[in-house]
This record gives sequence, structure tokens and C-alpha cells, in this order.
Amino acid sequence: MLKTARKYDRFSRLYDLFEGPMEMEAFSKYRKIVLSLVEGKVLEVGVGTGKNLPYYPEDVEVTGIDFSRGMLKRAEKRRIELGLENVELLPMDVQDLGFDDNTFDTVVSTFVFCTVPDPVKGLREVYRVLKPGGRAIFLEHMKSGSKLLNIPLYMIEPFIRTLLGTSMLRETRNNIGKAGFRIEKAENLFFDIVRLIIAGKPGGKNDSEEEPVP
Ligand SMILES: C[S@@+](CC[C@H](N)C(=O)[O-])C[C@H]1O[C@@H](n2cnc3c(N)ncnc32)[C@H](O)[C@@H]1O
Repeated sequence: MLKTARKYDRFSRLYDLFEGPMEMEAFSKYRKIVLSLVEGKVLEVGVGTGKNLPYYPEDVEVTGIDFSRGMLKRAEKRRIELGLENVELLPMDVQDLGFDDNTFDTVVSTFVFCTVPDPVKGLREVYRVLKPGGRAIFLEHMKSGSKLLNIPLYMIEPFIRTLLGTSMLRETRNNIGKAGFRIEKAENLFFDIVRLIIAGKPGGKNDSEEEPVP
């Protein structure tokens, strides 16, 4: 098993507590925005303890994956408590997804590509399993364009990397582009560190004529 998955297994008991203050302050608000955008057959990668589960609309079919069984166990508990029968949870690595090409209408990722060991490989897998015309919705933290804002990120980096294998300095916006996605929207939620990015896989019937966001 991967070293990072083991770190999350160990941390799974504390994850919700650790994230609690950020959740109350802002994350739950951001999650509502992300989950209001999903449709059809949905894949959530790095589902963690299932923090997004309460916000899914009832008319979607959700498959959630995570490579940490400890995190998944907590997501499964949450799924049962919420009585969600439209959600299935599976142990899987986003870098090697066990789904056919062009399977999902929407892919959701919240705070995941800061941790995936090879993020571009994982994003290429997301692109592969998304249907042409489908959308991937990312809520992610990443390196800022400002040297000043990056100072605290560089300071936290060694601690968070050791604890969880997570990096505060990933260039996730660029990585999404490298995987072949067409960026439709990139909105800053907390400076340019926490961003909502909506990315499409070209080739759908309703492809827009608009230029991608630079
Ligand atoms: C910071 S947590 C976020 C969990 C959840 N998405 C949320 O918003 O609370 C990152 C999650 O991504 C998972 N993860 C990281 N790399 C992964 C990979 N390669 N494949 C599957 N899951 C992965 C971790 O196990 C962890 O559960």
C-alpha cells in the first residue's frame, strides 16, 4: 500500500476534528456550491470521510473512491447514517481507476490533488473516465501566484507533508490543463489559494464556442 494512504488511514480518526474549524468557517459553504453543479452519473475521487455526501442532490448516482480504507470506513458510516442508497463507495487509487473510458457525466474532487502522489497521472485518469462533454469540478488549494502569500505555505509545507503526504505548493490549476481539460471557470475563494475550477472534456454535443479561461 502507498505511504500516503497509510498516513490517511492513521489520521482518519482525527480528520473531521482537524478540519472542523475550516469546515464551519468556509468549507461547508464551498461544498454546497460544488455539489449544486453535479449531474447524472457522478464519480467523487478522494471521497475521504464523506464530507460532501450530505450535499448531493437526490437524483444523481454517486460512486466515491479513496485509496485509504480508514477514510472510506468513515465515509461508509456517514452514508448509512444519511440513508443514501444512491451512493456506492469503493477502495481505489485515482492514478489507476478501474472504470471504462467515458463512464461519468461529472467528476468531483475536493482537496485531493494536493495529496495524490502523481497529480497529472491522476488527472489524466479523471479525464479518461469522464464522458466527452462531461465536467470535472475541483475545489482545491494550491500554490499562490503571490510570493508574499506563499510564505506561510512554504512554512507549513514540511509539517503537512510529513503528517499527510500533502503539499501546499501544488500547481493544480496548471496540472488540470496538462491533463487535457478545457478550463471553463476558475474562481478564487480564498485569495488564489483555494479555488473552484470547472473543467470540461471537449467533444460533447453542447460544447460552447467560448474561449477557455486563460
Ligand atoms: C484532504 S483529504 C480530502 C477528503 C475529502 N475530499 C474532503 O473534501 O474532505 C484527501 C483525500 O484524498 C485521498 N487520496 C489522496 N490521494 C489519493 C489517490 N491517489 N487515490 C485515491 N484517494 C486519494 C486521501 O486518502 C484523502 O481521503
